[in-house]
Amino acid sequence: MNDGTPSRPQDTPQKGHGGDNGASSERSDPTEDSRESSRTGPGFDTVIGRTIVDRGLVTSDELDEAMSIVAERRKLEPATTLPSILLEEELLTPKQLERVRGEVEADSTSQRIPGYKILQKLGAGAMATVFLARQLSLDRLVAIKVLPKRLSASESFIERFYKEGRAAAKLNDPNIVAAYDVNQAGEHHYFVMEYVDGETLYDRIKRERQIDEPEALKIVRQVASALKHAHERGFIHRDIKPKNIMLGKAGKVKLADLGLARALTDKEAAEAEAGRAYGTPFYISPEQIRGKVELGPEADLYGLGATMYHMTTGRVPFEGRTPSQVMHRHLRDEVVPPDHVNSRLSPGTAQIIEMLLEKRPSDRYGSASDLIEDIDLVLAGKSPLHAGGRVDLSSVAEALSGGTESQPAIKLRKAPRGNSMFGEPVVLMLMCLLGLALFVILLLVLNQA
Ligand SMILES: Nc1ncnc2c1ncn2[C@@H]1O[C@H](COP(=O)(O)OP(=O)(O)OP(=O)(O)O)[C@@H](O)[C@H]1O
Ligand SMILES: [Mg+2]
Repeated sequence: MNDGTPSRPQDTPQKGHGGDNGASSERSDPTEDSRESSRTGPGFDTVIGRTIVDRGLVTSDELDEAMSIVAERRKLEPATTLPSILLEEELLTPKQLERVRGEVEADSTSQRIPGYKILQKLGAGAMATVFLARQLSLDRLVAIKVLPKRLSASESFIERFYKEGRAAAKLNDPNIVAAYDVNQAGEHHYFVMEYVDGETLYDRIKRERQIDEPEALKIVRQVASALKHAHERGFIHRDIKPKNIMLGKAGKVKLADLGLARALTDKEAAEAEAGRAYGTPFYISPEQIRGKVELGPEADLYGLGATMYHMTTGRVPFEGRTPSQVMHRHLRDEVVPPDHVNSRLSPGTAQIIEMLLEKRPSDRYGSASDLIEDIDLVLAGKSPLHAGGRVDLSSVAEALSGGTESQPAIKLRKAPRGNSMFGEPVVLMLMCLLGLALFVILLLVLNQA
């Protein structure tokens, strides 16, 4: 990092990895990720076999039977594994298998990280696996992100991993997951951070589909506050999405993965999310898709806008059959106004979201502080200042013709950044009247013709 801004990951040690962007229990194909290579094969089968018998999940006879099916099947399909047969024979449920895998991994990892007792696996992302651990010297719980061996092969990536990790450790904000340490044990590099006892925003959206407006605003406000702190110190997150927003106990929100170097370029990471319902392509900014290297705070604000859209409408701003289709839509398509999707959403919140999702960085908020200012106004029942509205005349016409049930009668659409007289209620009223008058004149003219 030269200017305090994490540099763009240039090297791509392993392209096209399969990120586990679903909950860990959703992993269906254990061979989809090269990380899995150490979790398959005869050695792994033996450990899994021993563990499931020890746990009383299957009897030794059942295990023997499964093992002979594996041996038989391998004659035709050499890649057959014990876990796949256990699932096929319904001796274990996918959830039970995932738990056992987590335990086995935690056991093997604990032997590799001195000073920490690994307690359990918390989850896995595209790049690494995260464990809950006890830091023995300070007797505190921490989360440890352990990188797979394959990433150690790239010297430049590892160099960046340390440099950015050390820089991130200097950030100190109540809404940022604190970075404690970066280190290496054996062939594994790891990143020790504050443990957040709670869930990710991804989990919450998945469970509840939609989050009530005031609560969504409060969550976004805390993320914006984290971004303000980071941006003012030259950090750009680059990957704002529900999976990187942790919801702790008592409403505390913490932004994770700040200052964490990534092995892929933003676009490659997004492409690698193929087919995953809550993946990066849904939140990536147009400038990241275009491969811009020197990103500004606006890139993070776009990701936050996409996240906010998802929270408040239950839908991502752009869907598509493939990641490239989604990304194409981020570049070209106008987003369906969030209050057209969720008609209970206030115009103020809709304006904020639309301004965050502007295609051109210069049309978005200039800073997270401006966003916070607008959120506070909307929370206080006022109109946003920066995302001032202007009248959408097509909505006026629609309102005059009765509107539709799913679409509120009059929509105020965002204006270009900055304070606008169009945000003033009196001006809005006059504009509505003007629209009405024009409409009536048009009708009269048409009648006469
Ligand atoms: N500091 C933390 N405290 C508690 N749990 C955490 C923490 N950091 C990560 N996790 C858990 O570990 C999971 C994996 O995190 P990770 O950052 O590796 O991947 P991700 O953010 O889910 O996806 P991606 O790799 O695509 O960014 C998270 O989804 C979360 O459940
Ligand atoms: Mg993460």
